[in-house]
Amino acid sequence: MPVNTVIFNELVKRGYSVQGKKRSWDVANAKLWYLTPELVKGYLNLTTYPPYRKNFIDLELGLLKKRAKLIAGFCGATTFNLIDLGCGDGSKAAAFIKQLPANVRMRYCPVDVSKTLLDMAVKRVRSMHSNKVFAIKPFLTGFSEMGEIAPMLRNSEYQSNVVLLLGGTIAQYDINDFLYQISKDMLPGDSLIIGNGYRTGKRFVHLEKYKDPLFHKWFVHIVKGLGFSEKEVQVGTRFAHGRLEGYYTVLVDKKMTHKGKTVYFRKGDEIIVAIQYKFYSSELQNFCKLYFKDVQFLPEKKGEYCLLLGKK
Ligand SMILES: C[S@@+](CC[C@H](N)C(=O)[O-])C[C@H]1O[C@@H](n2cnc3c(N)ncnc32)[C@H](O)[C@@H]1O
Repeated sequence: MPVNTVIFNELVKRGYSVQGKKRSWDVANAKLWYLTPELVKGYLNLTTYPPYRKNFIDLELGLLKKRAKLIAGFCGATTFNLIDLGCGDGSKAAAFIKQLPANVRMRYCPVDVSKTLLDMAVKRVRSMHSNKVFAIKPFLTGFSEMGEIAPMLRNSEYQSNVVLLLGGTIAQYDINDFLYQISKDMLPGDSLIIGNGYRTGKRFVHLEKYKDPLFHKWFVHIVKGLGFSEKEVQVGTRFAHGRLEGYYTVLVDKKMTHKGKTVYFRKGDEIIVAIQYKFYSSELQNFCKLYFKDVQFLPEKKGEYCLLLGKK
């Protein structure tokens, strides 16, 4: 299998930890999940999976439509940069823009590591021919570049930034670090809109939901990117280390050399490829309050999904 340099380097950089007799390689960085056409296809397949659409996508779209006017009032400015952080295919931003008041003038600024998804978002918003979208400025880059992007976008015409962080993206990262990193590049008057799931009952339930083959069809491309064939690994899903984890158990001893670096995998090693944190609503609100003011929690009563608004 051809090795993907970015995935391989991430594994080398992070190394492994030893748990009992098992060696665990944690390569669960959401930035890797959309790296190649196969990975993007795996993600897009998930977005058409009926339970996922019903419990996440449709709930978030419904909230954005219902709450657009309230959100516009919360943001204050009618002229702003709409920074769609991790824009995906742009469908959420498009639904949101459609519902905003007619006096809004925005520059739509999608940010994503995936060129395929970024192009989809640009195309989708452009094809709306909305009177509210005066310009589109995409950024093919990682979230870590926000420190450059946010100030660069601010000018006399577009003085404030409204940041969209939708689709549960925040649950794939360390939430404190993530919120701190975005907040430090925002100025008073800027706003953040998060879309994420929240738990009401026990934190960790319904593990079977995540065992759907669609997840394997997506994440197997991470271990393939490390040079494994499907037969050399076995997929697993569990709640561990305070989060949901998707991982692969290595079934063979394997030496992998790529661009001068060698890794020795042993039979029984595990490779963690995907993670998702689960939060209660109070936790989400408290995290946001650490970095933002006027935090508002807008839940969807029909399910465990919410929008969170915060002002810098
Ligand atoms: C869960 S999807 C959400 C997509 C979209 N916001 C939505 O709600 O449909 C996460 C998106 O963030 C992007 N992404 C994840 N980590 C990233 C990073 N570190 N830098 C830039 N983009 C990233 C992915 O490529 C993907 O499009």
